[in-house]
Amino acid sequence: MCGIVGYVGSKQAAEIILEGLARLEYRGYDSAGMAVYDGEKIRISKTAGRLKVLEESTRGGETMPGVLGIGHTRWATHGIPNETNAHPHFNKDETITVVHNGIIENYIALRDLLKKHGYEFQTETDTEVVAHLLDYYDKGDPLETITKVLHRVEGSYALGIIFASHPDTLYAVRKDSPLIVGRDDSGCFIASDVPAILKHTRRVFYVDDQEIAVMKADDLAFYSIYGERIEKEEVYVDWDADAAEKGGYEHFMLKEMNEQPKTVTDTLSPRIRDGRIVIEELNMSDEELAAVKKIHIVACGSAYHAGVTGKYVIEGLARIPVEVDLASEFRYRDPILEEGAMVIVISQSGETADTLAALREARNRGFRVLAIVNVVGSSIAREADAVMYTWAGPEIAVATTKAYSAQLINLYLLALKMAHVRGRLDDDELVDMIEDLKCLPQQIELLLGNQKRIQRFANRYIGAKDIFFIGRGIDYSIALEGSLKLKEISYVHSEAYAAGELKHGTISLIEEGTLVTAIATQPELFAKTVSNIVEVKSRGAFVLAVTTEGNDEIEKNADYVIYVPQTNPYFMNSLAIVPLQMFGYYVSVGKGYDADHPRNLAKSVTVE
Ligand code: F6R
Repeated sequence: MCGIVGYVGSKQAAEIILEGLARLEYRGYDSAGMAVYDGEKIRISKTAGRLKVLEESTRGGETMPGVLGIGHTRWATHGIPNETNAHPHFNKDETITVVHNGIIENYIALRDLLKKHGYEFQTETDTEVVAHLLDYYDKGDPLETITKVLHRVEGSYALGIIFASHPDTLYAVRKDSPLIVGRDDSGCFIASDVPAILKHTRRVFYVDDQEIAVMKADDLAFYSIYGERIEKEEVYVDWDADAAEKGGYEHFMLKEMNEQPKTVTDTLSPRIRDGRIVIEELNMSDEELAAVKKIHIVACGSAYHAGVTGKYVIEGLARIPVEVDLASEFRYRDPILEEGAMVIVISQSGETADTLAALREARNRGFRVLAIVNVVGSSIAREADAVMYTWAGPEIAVATTKAYSAQLINLYLLALKMAHVRGRLDDDELVDMIEDLKCLPQQIELLLGNQKRIQRFANRYIGAKDIFFIGRGIDYSIALEGSLKLKEISYVHSEAYAAGELKHGTISLIEEGTLVTAIATQPELFAKTVSNIVEVKSRGAFVLAVTTEGNDEIEKNADYVIYVPQTNPYFMNSLAIVPLQMFGYYVSVGKGYDADHPRNLAKSVTVE
C-alpha cells in the first residue's frame, strides 16, 4: 500500500519523482525515499515522516542530480515506519536498488536462504530480499536477472528497479499491485497511479500481471516473465488534472463531499435514455438479467456499506435475494454459489486485495462478475467480466465520500433495471423513480448548504468518547457508513446498530449525555425507530435525529434534528449520508486532525 514513481530520460529525475510522489501520498505517507543514478553510482536519500521531509532534505531534488531515478512513499506493512525501512533498498554493493509496493509473502524463507549465501540484512522489510535476490542472480543481463527473481518470489508486487551496470535503463514489473508506464518526448515514467505523471504525459500503458517494462529515454519494451517480447497498446488518459487538486477547499475530503452533486449526475445521466435505464456495459440482454436468481455483493469498508444499501434496494424493488459479504470473509468461507447467481464486487480503487481475491474466487468457479469500480484500468476493472464505472473522478481523501455516493447510484440503477425487466415495476413507475433520481444532485446541493450549522453542532462533540448510530432497514445501512466516517477521521469511538438490536446488549453503554444519532427516514419504520429513540433518551442519551422533511413530530423526542428533503425511500441514503459525512469531517477538523490522512489508514488497501 505504497506509492512508487520512476523516471528515465533527458530531464532531472529527482524533481519529477518528488512531484509524482506528492500526488501519491494518499497511498502511504509514513516515510519516503528516492534513488538517483548520478553518473557514477546510485545515490539514495530516505526520510521518516511525510514526503515534505524528503523534499527539504534534498532541497526539492537539487542535491540528487541525474536522469534516472525511482522514488517511494511508504505505508508500513513489514517493519516500523523509519528511515532504515523506507525504500529504496540496496543490494550489498549498492549497485542495484529497488522500490516496492505489495508484500513478498515468502520473504522469510528467501531471507534465510540468502543469509546462508552470506547476505546480510539491514532492514525489517520484506522488500530487501528482492534487492539481494537480484544481486544473487545478476550475471550482467538485468532482464534475465529479473525473470529469475520473479520465479522465486511469491505475493504481490509493483517494483521499480535500477542497475548501476545499465545506467540508461529503468526496469519495472508488477503482480497484483498497480503499476502504469507513461511516455513523453523526454523519456519514460512509472507510477502506481495516473495522477502522479499527468503533469508530464497522458500517454499511458497499463502493465498487466507479471509483465516487465524495460525503459530508456527513447525506447520502451515489455516482456513476459519468460523474457518474451509483448506488444502493448498505448492508452490516452483524458482525466482533468485540476480534478486532482484541492480547488480552494481546506481538505480534499471537503472538496470531494462538495463534488457529490456532480458525481451523482455524471454517474446517472449517461445511463438514462428516454425514460429507460440503459446499462450497456453489463453486456446482458433483458432476458439474461431477468433470469438472475440470486445476487452476491462483495466489498470492503464503505463499499460494503453501499452493498448493504444495495441489498435492501434490490430485494425491495426487484425481489431477487441478495447476500452481502465482506470480501475478506467471502474469499475464505467457501461461499455457496448456485447456478443463476451473479456476483457484484464494489471498489473505489479497484485494487483492494480482498475484493480482487473475491472476484477471482467467483470467476474461478465459473460465475460472471460485475464490478462497480471508480478507477479506470484498475486490476478489478480489468479482471471483471463487466464493469459499471462510477464516474466520481480521482478521489484523494482517504475517507471515501463521492465514490461511495456514486456506488449507491449504480446500485439503484441496477435495482430499477432488474425490477423493470422482471415486471416488478411498470413503465410509469420506472419513469417516476428515474425522476426522483434526477432530483438527487440538487437535493444534495441543498444539504451541503448546511455546513456551518453542522460544524457548530460537531464542535460540541469534539470531546466525545463514544457515539452511537442507530437505524432500521436502509437507515441501518446509512448508520453503518455514518459511524465509519466519524470514527476513521476523528478517532472517536463509534458504533452503528440496527435500532431494534440496541436493547440486546449495547444499550448498557448509554450514559447521561452520550450522543446517539438516530436515522429515521423510512416511513414504514419511523414509529419503530422513534420508540428506540425514547429508549435511549430515558437512559440519558442526547439524540441527534436525521429524518425527512415533514416528520416534525420527532422533535418531541429528539434533542436536535436534521431534515433531509423528500425522495423515494429507497434512495434516502444518498441524502441522509451527506450531513453524517459533514459531521465526521467537522469533528475531525475541530480536533485539529488532518481529515485527508487519518492515522493508520491508506487510500488503497492492496494487502490482505
Ligand atoms: C472508508 C473507506 C474504506 C474503503 C475500503 C474499500 O472511508 O474508504 O472503507 O471503502 O477500503 O476500498 P475500495 O472501495 O477502494 O475497494
